[in-house]
Amino acid sequence: MADDDWRAALDAVAVGSTPLVRLRRVVPDGAGEVWLKLESGNPSGSYKDRLAVAIVRGALDRGDVAPGDRLVEYTGGSTGTALAHVAALTGLRFTAVSSDAFAPVKLRSMAAYGAEVLVEPSHGGGITPDLIARVRDRAYALGAEPGSWYTDQFGNADIRPGYAPMGTEIAEALDGRLDVVCAGVGTGGALMGALDGLDAAGLAPDAVGLEPAQSPFLTTGAGGSHRVEGIGLGFTPPFLDRDRVAEVRAVDQADAIAMCRRLAAEEGLLCGPSTGLNVVAAVGLAVERGPGSVVATFGVDTGAKYLDGDLFA
Ligand SMILES: Cc1ncc(COP(=O)(O)O)c(C=O)c1O
Repeated sequence: MADDDWRAALDAVAVGSTPLVRLRRVVPDGAGEVWLKLESGNPSGSYKDRLAVAIVRGALDRGDVAPGDRLVEYTGGSTGTALAHVAALTGLRFTAVSSDAFAPVKLRSMAAYGAEVLVEPSHGGGITPDLIARVRDRAYALGAEPGSWYTDQFGNADIRPGYAPMGTEIAEALDGRLDVVCAGVGTGGALMGALDGLDAAGLAPDAVGLEPAQSPFLTTGAGGSHRVEGIGLGFTPPFLDRDRVAEVRAVDQADAIAMCRRLAAEEGLLCGPSTGLNVVAAVGLAVERGPGSVVATFGVDTGAKYLDGDLFA
């Protein structure tokens, strides 16, 4: 594939400019405003499309990879689906190291885009620090093979700038009114990148990182087994800047799941567990801050990816 081809393909990907919707029915009277940045409309169905385009454009531009080479990443499936989509467009191959702990639809989506999907057994469906370490080590080894390139979703310098427009889009949509941003932390890339964009737009909202109460590594130092895909990995991700994110809160995964059901039934929004968790925390912050306050968070992906599991069962 010639240079012009992959450039044209990446330029044509319709990433970003997603809607920001105000939640009303799940927000109690007397609370501030809660706004949800709905990222499910990105091409592969999550905000990870912003990351994938940024990573692949940067790598191809610099010549770190050339069409025909193989990208390697360990992924619960959102990053993987986004990378698989962009790899297909740019003539790259992609190997995802994943697990049966993650939604089957995500694994099938990666394969549908032509990715090789390696599945580590979770031994019971829980996301544990041990499982994350196993998929990580397998991805590191494959990424070091000739013709392969580890995309490094935990450290790649193209990621934060890739997410920054998510922050500027929020700043524009809210006309500069914003008190708090909260987000579940996996790599921390989305939250930190969005904050970069908000900072660049002249806003300095308080930032609250979130994790599942079942794996409260960031708040207590002890990770555990949980079911909120994409966050709560059992270590402090390098992107997470504790000076910019003053507070981390743990949210019960049962509350996150209950919120997904309310969002579908009351707000008409089909959301995944990490989005449910984001909204639980955002509503709590809007209650604490009170009338007149403005809280924003992220609708990471679509609940359609989780219909095979028990999220809505
Ligand atoms: C479904 C889902 N939610 C939330 C996140 C967390 O995003 P980040 O890694 O940018 O912190 C991820 C990341 O993998 C994810 O897949």
